[in-house]
Amino acid sequence: MCGIVATIGLGPAIPVLLDGLRRLEYRGYDSAGLAVVDGGQLTLHRQVGRVRELARQVPGTLPGHVGIAHTRWATHGKVTQANAHPHVDADRRIAVVHNGIIENMGVLKARLQASGVVFRSETDSEILVHLISRYYAGEDGVPAGDPLAAVRAALRVVRGTWGIAVLFADEPDMIIAARNGSPLVVGLGDGQTYLASDPHALIAYTRRVVFLEDGDVARIDARGVQTFQLDGGLVDSVIETMDEVWGDEDSGDYPHLMLKEIYEQPEALERCLSGRIVPAGGTAKLGGLDMAPKDLAKLSRVGLLGCGTAFHACQVGVQLIEQLARVPAKAEIASEFRHRNPLVDPDALFFALSQSGETADTLGAVREIQVKGGTVMGIVNVVGSSIARSCGRGVYIHSGPEMAVASTKAFSNMISALAVFTLMLARQRTLSAYDGRLYVEQLLAVPDLVRRYLENPGPIDTLVEWVKDAGLVLFLGRGLSAPVAAEGALKLMEVAYVPCIAYPSGEMKHGPIALLETGSPVIVIAPRDELRDKTLSNLQECKARGARVAIIHTEGDDIAQHADLSIAVPETSPFFSPLLTVLPLQLLAYRTGLALGCDIDRPRNLAKSVTVE
Ligand code: AGP
Repeated sequence: MCGIVATIGLGPAIPVLLDGLRRLEYRGYDSAGLAVVDGGQLTLHRQVGRVRELARQVPGTLPGHVGIAHTRWATHGKVTQANAHPHVDADRRIAVVHNGIIENMGVLKARLQASGVVFRSETDSEILVHLISRYYAGEDGVPAGDPLAAVRAALRVVRGTWGIAVLFADEPDMIIAARNGSPLVVGLGDGQTYLASDPHALIAYTRRVVFLEDGDVARIDARGVQTFQLDGGLVDSVIETMDEVWGDEDSGDYPHLMLKEIYEQPEALERCLSGRIVPAGGTAKLGGLDMAPKDLAKLSRVGLLGCGTAFHACQVGVQLIEQLARVPAKAEIASEFRHRNPLVDPDALFFALSQSGETADTLGAVREIQVKGGTVMGIVNVVGSSIARSCGRGVYIHSGPEMAVASTKAFSNMISALAVFTLMLARQRTLSAYDGRLYVEQLLAVPDLVRRYLENPGPIDTLVEWVKDAGLVLFLGRGLSAPVAAEGALKLMEVAYVPCIAYPSGEMKHGPIALLETGSPVIVIAPRDELRDKTLSNLQECKARGARVAIIHTEGDDIAQHADLSIAVPETSPFFSPLLTVLPLQLLAYRTGLALGCDIDRPRNLAKSVTVE
């Protein structure tokens, strides 16, 4: 989380910094700040809240052709102006913006305080500026007045993750940047160079970029970038061109990004399927996997890793893979997987699922697999993101820009990409061409079914009335509907702050049923599949305890009569039911958030990309 933007060159810095911050705001919106240097003076502006608050404070005419800026998602220290970045040294000659976490903060802070340094924030990041300041003054034999040497010396004593940009009042012709676990990209312009934590902050200025790698320290000036290893020599800078570039965050005719993204799902699904299905053969091809049929045939197992909504898509994926391709599959939360010293079977194939491609835990899981000699590929939305680049091979889900913090269309497209992979794998194994063609026909029909549902979504507003003031909402589903229940609960919690729990229906009687009282809202996801009748029994158990039950079911199914409220979705193959049953839950979260006056696209405490552990 947190966003960094910086620039140096011929043009004024302020417009670039504020524009970049606006584009990066989805990464964190607790506070924002910037620093520029002009005439040997460093000017600092910081503000709690959105970038627009900062922009109001900063004079548009503020001079300076070099500056750094930051939008914060708080990790260490409350949301206050003092904790906003940039942080400056005692003399206000050096400013630092930092993404990541300094893990040995305690010991370093104590040491600096003992030598007289006064800290003005509660952040771990402030440590960096004081360390750099000391080394810049020549401490420990570091050549005095050498910005690159000072930053390198400071980074040698910290432990943790960082993406940083450092500005020196005495050196207005350069910015020093460094990366370790927190992405940074340099943009090359004409007489102007840029730095950002996300290439999309640079699109208005350039498409020629250099991605910094972990362990890099870079000296950036108006002509470009020179990159060094932290403890070594010059590194070759590989210039890449950004092909797929997304425009500005814009909700168009919709009042919110989230609603727009929900309604974009039919087209997003079509994009994900386009060119990947081979209808005649009842199979599929995914060029990005670069796997021959014989490689697919010898896979021992499939592992799917992700966080949050992406993890729920993994849970759907494993069921498709096991049921159709008959290959053992397992879904795991990336933050658990990466730290449990997992066994990595060299004949297994892992997928890392991520909309942003920047989630730190998912990236950590990718690295863990790679260190252990395993094969891992990305199922990612953002082209050129860290996970996509680290995996090297994989599938882009082509959702298009997803900017609302609550993930909607990426969930659907992750499932749809996994459905395509399942088909490929299943055709190598057990699935006949005839059944493959049937599967293809049903999969290709899904976008229109989604479109049809969204045109007439049913009594969502009645359900909003049930849940908006509820102390707890219970979501239930079995099989492929269990992750949909979890996704529905996650959406309602994050967008409307309503406490929710989700359970596989059969598990409810082992504990959560104790929570039910007269009138407790329960939302049951029960499409027409082989588990429908079992779920119906669980629904009855809830009613017997006085709960109010809403059911999300297949159109025309008389299961509706057993619930107090019913929302029907068009019929599809049970394998693709999550792509339909999730829709009312997305709309429920959206409309409940609206009814409660929540900040729908920027829910409190959250950020779109979770780039810290
Ligand atoms: C979803 O609505 C969330 N905001 C969150 O759970 C998200 O899915 C998770 O942080 C993973 O993000 P990623 O897909 O970008 O890796």
